[in-house]
Amino acid sequence: MKTDWYKNAVVYQVYPFSFMDGNNDGWGDIPGILSKLDHIKELGATAVWFSPLYRSPDFDYGYDVSDYRSIDGKFGTMADFDTLLSACHKRDLKVIMDMVLNHTSTEHPWFREAISSKDSPYRDYYIIREGIRKGRKLLPPSNWQSTFTGSAWERIGESDEFYLHLFCREQADLNWENPRVREEIADILDFWLAKGVDGFRFDVFNMFSKVFPIRDDREKHTFQKGAQFFVDGPRMHEFLRELNEKVFSRYDSYTVGESFHPSPEAARAYVKRENRELDSIFSFAHLDSDNIGGKKFFRKPFDLLQFKDGLFGPQRDNYEDGWNTLVLENHDNPRSVDRFSIDSGKYRYEAATMLAAVVFMGFGTPFIYMGEEAGLTNCAFTSIEQMKDPVSHFVYDLMTRCGMPRKLAFSFIRYGARDHARVPMAWDDTANGGFNGGHPTWQCVNPRFREINVRKDRDAERSVFRFYQKLLAIRKSSETAIMGKTEEYDHGNRRIVAYSRTFGDDRLFVCANFSPRPVRYVLPPWVKGARVLLDNYGQYQRGEASVALSPYQALIFEEA
Ligand code: NOJ
Repeated sequence: MKTDWYKNAVVYQVYPFSFMDGNNDGWGDIPGILSKLDHIKELGATAVWFSPLYRSPDFDYGYDVSDYRSIDGKFGTMADFDTLLSACHKRDLKVIMDMVLNHTSTEHPWFREAISSKDSPYRDYYIIREGIRKGRKLLPPSNWQSTFTGSAWERIGESDEFYLHLFCREQADLNWENPRVREEIADILDFWLAKGVDGFRFDVFNMFSKVFPIRDDREKHTFQKGAQFFVDGPRMHEFLRELNEKVFSRYDSYTVGESFHPSPEAARAYVKRENRELDSIFSFAHLDSDNIGGKKFFRKPFDLLQFKDGLFGPQRDNYEDGWNTLVLENHDNPRSVDRFSIDSGKYRYEAATMLAAVVFMGFGTPFIYMGEEAGLTNCAFTSIEQMKDPVSHFVYDLMTRCGMPRKLAFSFIRYGARDHARVPMAWDDTANGGFNGGHPTWQCVNPRFREINVRKDRDAERSVFRFYQKLLAIRKSSETAIMGKTEEYDHGNRRIVAYSRTFGDDRLFVCANFSPRPVRYVLPPWVKGARVLLDNYGQYQRGEASVALSPYQALIFEEA
C-alpha cells in the first residue's frame, strides 16, 4: 500500500494569502491557485503543500485554526477545495495539507467551551492552571516564555487561572495528554485523508508533549525560557507512533514535521524508519548561518561552514534509516537571495540558481517556496506599520520598550522578517504585480514588481525559472540524485561548496562558488573526465585538474 512517493517528489509550497487573488478582493484564494496550477506543474513540482486554508481569525495568518474541517470563506468553499484537489490530481500533483495541532485558535469552539465553565468537558483539552499568588499579585503558573515574546500564559478573564500559549495569546496549546484530544486529532487527519489528500505538514510538532507537572525553568542561559519542558517532550515518540498506527499507516500518505530547534537525537528518532513516527522533518539548521543563535532578527556575518554543517548533517544522519528534506525558503523566512551576504542587486540570477543547485541536489525531498523559483527578492519595507506579521510587531515593541532606538529596531526586524516572503506574488508587471485585478491587497506588494516578476524571469535569457526546471528534471530522472549518498568535499573551504552523490556505480558531483569573487577549484581526480550536466553560467573554464568558477557559479557533473 505504501509507495513512498515522497522520495522522488518535489514539493511546492503555496501560502494562500499571497499566491493569487482570483476574485479581486485583495486576498489570495482557491480560484486564484487553480489558475496557476499549470505554472507549478511546468516548473516540475510533483506535489503542493498548502499553508492553512481552514477557518481562522488570522491572528497568525491561518496558523490559528478555529475549524479543522472547513475552508475559510476568504479562500473559497469546501466545494472549491474539492475542485482544487481534483485539479491537482488530474495534473499528477499530490496535495499536502498543513496541520496546526499544537494549538487551536482561541475562537475554536473547544476553547470557547473550555473557558465557559470549570466543569466543561473541554477544559482538559487545553493546559489550564492556577496562577501563583504573591501578596496582591497573581503570577502566571510558570516562567515559560512564548516563542513570540512575553509570558506563555494568559489569564482567563478575572479568574485565577491561566491557559498556556507557546505562540500568540490567540493560539491556545492543546493538551495532548488527554486521550480524547488525540482521538479528535486522529479523526481530523482521517477526514482529510478520506477526502483524498496525500499527506500532512505538521506545524511545530515537537511541542505536542510537555513536561508535567508544570514548573519554572531555573536554568540561567536557556535559549527559550521553558523550552526544556516543552520541546521534544517525554511522550513525543509515543504520540507520533499512535497517530502513525491509527491513521498514516492506513493510507499511502506522507508526513513532514516542522519542528522548533529539536535536539539532534530527537530529530533522528522522529524519522528513523523502524520507529514508525514521521516520514521526514524539515532541517533548517543551515538557515541559521546568518543569524545569532537561531534568532532570525539578529544578523551576523554569513558563516559558510555553518551553512554546510547544517545542510549536510541531516543528509548524513538520515541516510541509512530515514529520509531528509531540502529547504531554502518558506513563509517564515526572508527571501534567500537577500541573505547569506548576497548582493541581489548584482547577483540575483547567479545566486538564486547557485543556491538551488547546492541545496536541491542533496539527499532529501526538495521543498520550493512560491516565488523562489523566479528569484523573488525581499520587500523594501519602509516602516513597521507596513508589516502584517504579528511577530515583527512583538519583537519591534520589545526592542523599543527595552530602549533600542526605533530606527535600529526596525533595521533588525527588516533583516529577518517573515513579511518578506508573505507579500503578494509578483506574477507580472501589471497592477499589483498581476496578483489581482488592481484591488488594494491585504499586504503591500513588493515595489520592485515591475523589475522582478515571474513572467519577466521566465522570458529572460538567464532565467531562474528555467534553471529550476532543468535542475528538477535531473532530480526526478536520476536515481543517483534521488537515492545517492552524499559525501562532502573540502569542508573547510570558506568559498566553495562541493559534494558527491553516489548510488551503485553512478556518481554526481556538485561544486559551487558561494562567493562574489572568482575562485579556481581543484576537482577531485574522478571528476576530471566527468561531463557537465548543468551550469548556471552556460560557460566555464576547465583546466587539466581544476575549474575556474565565476561569482556564484555552480556546476553539476555526472561521471561518464
Ligand atoms: C510555524 C509556522 O510555520 C509559523 O508560521 C507559525 O507562526 C508557527 N508555527 C505557529 O503556528
